[in-house]
Amino acid sequence: MNWEWSDIYSHQLWMVSTAILAIIVRALRKVPWNPRACPVELKGKTAIITGANTGIGKFIALDFARRGARVILACRSEARGTAALQEIRDISGNQNVHLRLLDTSSLESVRKFAARILEEEKELHILVNNAGASGLPSKITADGLEITFATNHIGPFLLTSLLLDLLKKSAPARIVNVSSMNHWKGEVDFSHFRGDNLSNVMDAAYNHTKLHNVIWTNELARRLQGTDC
Ligand SMILES: NC(=O)c1ccc[n+]([C@@H]2O[C@H](COP(=O)([O-])OP(=O)(O)OC[C@H]3O[C@@H](n4cnc5c(N)ncnc54)[C@H](OP(=O)(O)O)[C@@H]3O)[C@@H](O)[C@H]2O)c1
Repeated sequence: MNWEWSDIYSHQLWMVSTAILAIIVRALRKVPWNPRACPVELKGKTAIITGANTGIGKFIALDFARRGARVILACRSEARGTAALQEIRDISGNQNVHLRLLDTSSLESVRKFAARILEEEKELHILVNNAGASGLPSKITADGLEITFATNHIGPFLLTSLLLDLLKKSAPARIVNVSSMNHWKGEVDFSHFRGDNLSNVMDAAYNHTKLHNVIWTNELARRLQGTDC
């Protein structure tokens, strides 16, 4: 039997399979994320973003400002916060962007920040717990807490608890807790909160805090079912 390679390529089945493969590849192709493509407007919404003077937090704050939200940058440094505030106002053209000081590693600072928010804001629709740190030298805070736990988990936990009634009252509202892929390396041991039994290997404290973020977020979501928060 005589055949040529061209006979195979011109076969109908080959053409159909190629077309199907092309459709699948196109559907699965990774498209770069473009926040400007999102049509959701945030006019009339108030959002707090912790750690908003740099990195992911600043980008989120800028995005919310562009969409017209009232944006509160919750930062621990007045100088770094003011620089970000100016930049976000300039780029977005939204002057309804404000700075409030917050150090998530200090329970006193968290309480003071929350008290001011409850005094000044009638509504709160979005809380982004973004502030976080890794690689911190081991230290116990004035509250007796290990610094990475205080910063990444306990401070944000207290802040959210203090603002929860306002969020519920403002529903639909959303709480976003920024964790990390590294949470899978973490363990739950409540003695870690006070710095006991903690290894410094490969930033173990950070991984533990990020696992606590995930567990807490799951439980919070369960408790908030039906509240539109
Ligand atoms: N970048 C990544 O690849 C990655 C991956 C997984 C998860 N994450 C998580 O994403 C979040 C943001 O990360 P990033 O990469 O944008 O980090 P980043 O650029 O280092 O920014 C961290 C922000 O948190 C603030 N912050 C740190 N400690 C604070 C405290 N005690 N009180 C108030 N603010 C504090 C920092 O303020 P200062 O400028 O004053 O220090 C800064 O604004 C973190 O929760 C991080 O764990 C990041």
